[in-house]
Amino acid sequence: MSLSVWADKAVLRSTPTYPVSPLAYGKKVFRSIVLCIVLLIAVLSTNVFTWSSPINYCKAFLLSNLNKYGNEQLCSQYNVLVPKNLLWNTVGEVVGTEEFKYRAVDWLAGAIRIPTESYDDFGPIGEDPRWETFEHFHDYLLEAFPLVHSTLSLTKINTHSLLYEWTGTDSSLQPVLLAAHQDVVPVEPRTAADWTYPPYSGYFDGTRIWGRGAGDDKSGLISLMSAIELLLEAGFEPERTFVLAFGCDEEASGHFGALQLGKAMLEIYGPNAFAFIVDEGASGDISEHYGTVFAAPGVAEKGYLDLRVDVASPGGHSSIPPSHTTIGILSRLLVEFENSPFPVEMSTDSVFYGTLQCYAGHGKTIPSDLREAIVHSGSSEKALKKLGDILFKNPTNVALVGTTQAIDLIQGGVKSNALPEQAYAVVNHRISTLSSLAEVIDRDTDTLKGLANKFNLSFISFGKTISDTGASSAYGSLIFSDAFNNSLVPAPTTPTSGSKARPYELLSGTIQATYNVHRGLELESHNVVVAPGMPTGNTDTRYYWDLSDGQILRYNHRNSMAFKDVTSGVHTVDENLPIEAFLEMIRFFTTLILNTDESRSV
Ligand SMILES: *[C@@H]1O[C@H](CO)[C@@H](O)[C@H](O)[C@H]1NC(C)=O
Ligand SMILES: *[C@@H]1O[C@H](CO)[C@@H](O)[C@H](O)[C@H]1NC(C)=O
Ligand SMILES: [Zn+2]
Repeated sequence: MSLSVWADKAVLRSTPTYPVSPLAYGKKVFRSIVLCIVLLIAVLSTNVFTWSSPINYCKAFLLSNLNKYGNEQLCSQYNVLVPKNLLWNTVGEVVGTEEFKYRAVDWLAGAIRIPTESYDDFGPIGEDPRWETFEHFHDYLLEAFPLVHSTLSLTKINTHSLLYEWTGTDSSLQPVLLAAHQDVVPVEPRTAADWTYPPYSGYFDGTRIWGRGAGDDKSGLISLMSAIELLLEAGFEPERTFVLAFGCDEEASGHFGALQLGKAMLEIYGPNAFAFIVDEGASGDISEHYGTVFAAPGVAEKGYLDLRVDVASPGGHSSIPPSHTTIGILSRLLVEFENSPFPVEMSTDSVFYGTLQCYAGHGKTIPSDLREAIVHSGSSEKALKKLGDILFKNPTNVALVGTTQAIDLIQGGVKSNALPEQAYAVVNHRISTLSSLAEVIDRDTDTLKGLANKFNLSFISFGKTISDTGASSAYGSLIFSDAFNNSLVPAPTTPTSGSKARPYELLSGTIQATYNVHRGLELESHNVVVAPGMPTGNTDTRYYWDLSDGQILRYNHRNSMAFKDVTSGVHTVDENLPIEAFLEMIRFFTTLILNTDESRSV
């Protein structure tokens, strides 16, 4: 174990040669020259100076300007991290064989064939028969990964969640948590016939493995298990302890699975016990932007609130109606929400801003005006605003930075000739990492305060009386509450620079090494740019915050480019995964485990 080498590597950062768009560069040079000429004329017309001083001044001015531009380092990259352990090569050779390909197909296909569907209305474990499929899944894992099960200890948490410990020989090293989920979103029965291959067939067509869970997240769980089985077959014994946590209802609430796993791990390992946590990423873990390949580990997670808006007003016979019924009032309130979307502002503190820095620094074909806007936005508020104006025309970009709202449920009325006494709607919010639950509730409350008064409604928001016309004297009532008690504040952002970024650095180096070895590229070269990623969804890690010091990385190394012109079908029909992408995920986990084991900086 060579501590000093690793320590040096951790401090050194490679200087990337980032491509500067020639047009942007040309413009900058041209502008500097024009400025200089204007300066010369101005200075000379005063007749105070001789020729030489303004020329020298101009030369220096020009040089410093160009120099400054040429030296800009947007999104500098961490070093490639190649495991020193020679087992990496041994295992890598195995993964590269034709024989192993079929073994990998069998591993994943077998997991897909067990329909571990999770439902929002799951009843208690032991009562609801829909949980039984998870037992079959556990049996399958036991049979498919014999060495994992004879080497690692396994504890079942709340019956169906799996907690494995691969105990290292050096207990002074901080353990690392690797997570995945066993469940899949149900196949909508009406769409089952639309699948090219039956959704639970695990059919392999020579290129792709088809079926529910192929992407989300059986591939994550099985690639991790496969990597460990391979490492064990090669005789690997870790010095560091690795813990695996597999929830059983990530696609529902996580209440039966990750919530219980989180509690159990907190009890066993204690707060901040793990050096870092790696959980599922997105289908675009690796994808191309502006002619460059990027890998984007998710370093944050948005908050969540299902706001329930309840309106009540007097019922009665529909033949003598008031001008606004309960449903009419509720509708007007909802219109108010849609008329006042959350303001979104570009901020240098947003994760997406970090992604943009990487696009500007490394995107080969990024339009020069966008690149310029990104470059200037770091030092000018005006430019930052302009950058927002350009990007927020696209709702996807709005969702990456701002708080969103979507009215997703509505209910009211029981009979066509009776005035409805009650009606409610649910507004789904995804809360910006720069905002908070309280801020969102305050803003929603302010948005409807005026209308509540106008309609003569008493207004209670999350137990707080907002407008007290005196509950008895008001015409009706408006109540805000948490619809399903599943609100979530935004996750802490994982550091990507500075001394706390060691886990991100380790992951970055691992991604580079995996990418290179899988393609037979020169190991130490930079072929993929690692950029901080802002996922739009949530993961089981929402229950794991206390287990590490803000070090959560959502990344599986799933390569979206391997899909070519076929979509991944995640959460919809025809979910599939190219075998090439799956093999690369297995390589990723072997590399990650070896690098993590060797590292003394995390
Ligand atoms: C509000 O409604 C109550 C009950 O119907 C009524 O007595 C009161 O006058 C109304 N207030 C206003 C300002 O319309
Ligand atoms: C949410 O919690 C509140 C307060 O504990 C409770 O009154 C309410 O019934 C809960 N709602 C749901 C849908 O569980
Ligand atoms: Zn998932």
